[in-house]
Amino acid sequence: MMEKSFVMVKPDAVERRLMGKILTKFEEKGLQIIATKMILITEDLAKEHYAEHSEKPFFKSLVEYITSAPVLAMVIQGDECISVIRKIVGSTNPKEAEIGTIRGDYAMDTGRNIIHASDAPDSAKREINLFFKESEIMDYEMPDINMIYE
Ligand code: RTP
Ligand code: MG
Repeated sequence: MMEKSFVMVKPDAVERRLMGKILTKFEEKGLQIIATKMILITEDLAKEHYAEHSEKPFFKSLVEYITSAPVLAMVIQGDECISVIRKIVGSTNPKEAEIGTIRGDYAMDTGRNIIHASDAPDSAKREINLFFKESEIMDYEMPDINMIYE
């Protein structure tokens, strides 16, 4: 089933000039990037985005981390892409993330795990609406779609 996921390159990865390498992983997989923008997340937006963690001990440092520099927010589309993207991203703790995943290859610490990806269809919808207007999400054909999908 075609899905859309919200993905965000976090501030540390933007500052470390890893945006290109991260985008390449998704493009080479055959996923379709249908929206991108660089933004400096406000404290309010950070708190809303990570509302599910508001009672956690790491919430304050998470909000500080995610608002510390610009992020690259994006919407990615593909067949069952929410779970596929979570696999490409790797475990929350980069020390446990498999080599070959984004966190496994480029990060060392849970508090600096360089990328966010939606974890379920409901959260994907909520997060896409939080960051993007409908007019910012592009609709275009992939000319090689028959080489990606049977
Ligand atoms: P994300 O939401 O950013 O894609 O990460 P995730 O699903 O893999 O992990 P989640 O449990 O949703 O945690 C959100 C982010 O909070 C930070 N965190 N710190 N110090 C800690 O124990 C801790 N646990 C989580 C991480 O930046 C994590 O990505
Ligand atoms: Mg999460």
